[in-house]
Amino acid sequence: MSSQAKPHILLRREEIAATVARLAAEIKQDYQDRYPLFIGILKGSFIFMADLVRLLDFPLEVEFITVSSYGRGRVSSGKIKIVRGLTSPIKGREVLLVEDIVDTGLTTGFVLDYLGKKKPASMKLCTLTDKPSRRQTPVKIDYLGFTVPNKFLVGYGLDWDEKFRNLPDICFLEGGD
Ligand code: IMP
Ligand code: MG
Repeated sequence: MSSQAKPHILLRREEIAATVARLAAEIKQDYQDRYPLFIGILKGSFIFMADLVRLLDFPLEVEFITVSSYGRGRVSSGKIKIVRGLTSPIKGREVLLVEDIVDTGLTTGFVLDYLGKKKPASMKLCTLTDKPSRRQTPVKIDYLGFTVPNKFLVGYGLDWDEKFRNLPDICFLEGGD
């Protein structure tokens, strides 16, 4: 993609905030007495995680893991690597995996597998966005923000080539390529 690519708003910040609040209410209902461990997949989930946990007024812990699946472009390499894993055991914990987007499903599937081997008491998935049109492997989403069209999205944590993560709205890129 060339530097001509322009972001166009798909989901406005107000709409995102309302949806994060709705997800927080659903999660509170299920987790308020369970001292959950929220595990975010970096880097994409950092803004969503920050907004989500600040709406939750019960004890919880936050952890992050870093995986790489994409090269520097828009096409998944399909090879997922754990770049930085867990720093403490999750055995017996009530784990909620927090993701920015489920696209092919390969990343989430891989991470759920990796975490599952560490024997958490339970494990569920919360993703802000879901792009089902590109799924290659089935993924069960327990808490879903938005179903999104088959466009490459940036903003609110999502990047293209490490850029645009800081946009407050979720946008699609047009032009370039
Ligand atoms: P999957 O493995 O194809 O499901 O992709 C998951 C990862 O790819 C996400 O954690 C994102 O980091 C990245 N990704 C997938 N689709 C997009 C997109 O539209 N914009 C930015 N990143 C994306
Ligand atoms: Mg990413």
